[in-house]
Amino acid sequence: MTINITGTGSALPEKVVTNFDLEKLVETSDEWIQKRTGIAERRISGGETVSTLAADACSRALEMAGKTADEVDLILVATCSPELLLPCCACQVQDLIGASNAVAFDLNAACSGFLFALNTAYVYLQTGIYKNALVVGSEVLSKLVDWSDRGTCILFGDGAGAAFVEASGEEIIRSNGRRAGMECMVQGSDGAKGMVLSCGERAVNNAFTPKRQMESSYIHMDGQEVYKFATKQVPACIQKALDRADLAVEDVDWFMLHQANVRIIESVAKRLKADIARFPMNIHKAGNMSSATIPVLLDEWNRSGGIKEGDRLVLSGFGAGLTYGASILVW
Ligand code: COA
Repeated sequence: MTINITGTGSALPEKVVTNFDLEKLVETSDEWIQKRTGIAERRISGGETVSTLAADACSRALEMAGKTADEVDLILVATCSPELLLPCCACQVQDLIGASNAVAFDLNAACSGFLFALNTAYVYLQTGIYKNALVVGSEVLSKLVDWSDRGTCILFGDGAGAAFVEASGEEIIRSNGRRAGMECMVQGSDGAKGMVLSCGERAVNNAFTPKRQMESSYIHMDGQEVYKFATKQVPACIQKALDRADLAVEDVDWFMLHQANVRIIESVAKRLKADIARFPMNIHKAGNMSSATIPVLLDEWNRSGGIKEGDRLVLSGFGAGLTYGASILVW
């Protein structure tokens, strides 16, 4: 059996917010932001929602895969910023694209969400429960950001990316001799460090509790702790995945990393002793879109012709939870 991505799609809000725009909101500068993060601009919702962005990304992925919405078996949306608590975003997407035969649910692993959803879809397909899945990362983080906090508001952007994943009965061998499909996945979580990157929701406040103040509902982050975590865990889990698949760094064509900070990506490349040219990036124009980052990058790199059949990709991310993961696949 081969389980592979046969279509990708992405959707970004129209509004571009540059570092110069942020200079008007908080005490910062384009120079500081670019030097410390690599970000020059990001897209911010002017009304687009997590579900509308996700639906647009899904439609594009389906079009590339040559499938219609009613052929979709499973929709998994990774998001930490849904517009509704109920129903879940995946059910909204199902309705928006007309995928009436699909089972749909959300999954939240923050910035690792797309990877975790991809791995979940893989298991459903591997066991034969479903034949295909739309795997989505979609976020409107701009509503969770405290726009007076210069430590976080400079980092994040909004957007959505999707991948259509299909199982096929036969083995597909590419012209370079590599077997197409998912090869290996590694996931990890460290809940004990959860509060270094958090965002409050509703406090326990029911008919039987003394009335409590609502907690802050904006993103709080200890940037340096997250930075240390990422630069240690990401290369370690990529190495673990490579070891499990009996592969070396040189066997990988593209490292598609979560785009949180260009310095983190450079540090990972250095620790792996991998050429930075094999780490495609879009952080300068999109910022950190949490679960949407990896699928948007994948779609952009795919549509630009960057990925060829037979290329081996490592997808790797980290984020709140704390969570992290790496998946290896041959296109
Ligand atoms: N503009 C200007 N100055 C800023 C600033 C901003 N936007 N944000 C912080 N500063 C200041 C700080 O107040 C501090 O000033 P001080 O030296 O006078 O105290 C100085 O810049 C250095 O701050 P520091 O927090 O040490 O910067 P840093 O090099 O760690 O960079 C981050 C901050 C957030 C860019 C970096 O820690 C980071 O990227 N961490 C990972 C975050 C992440 O990836 N989160 C998402 C995970 S999915």
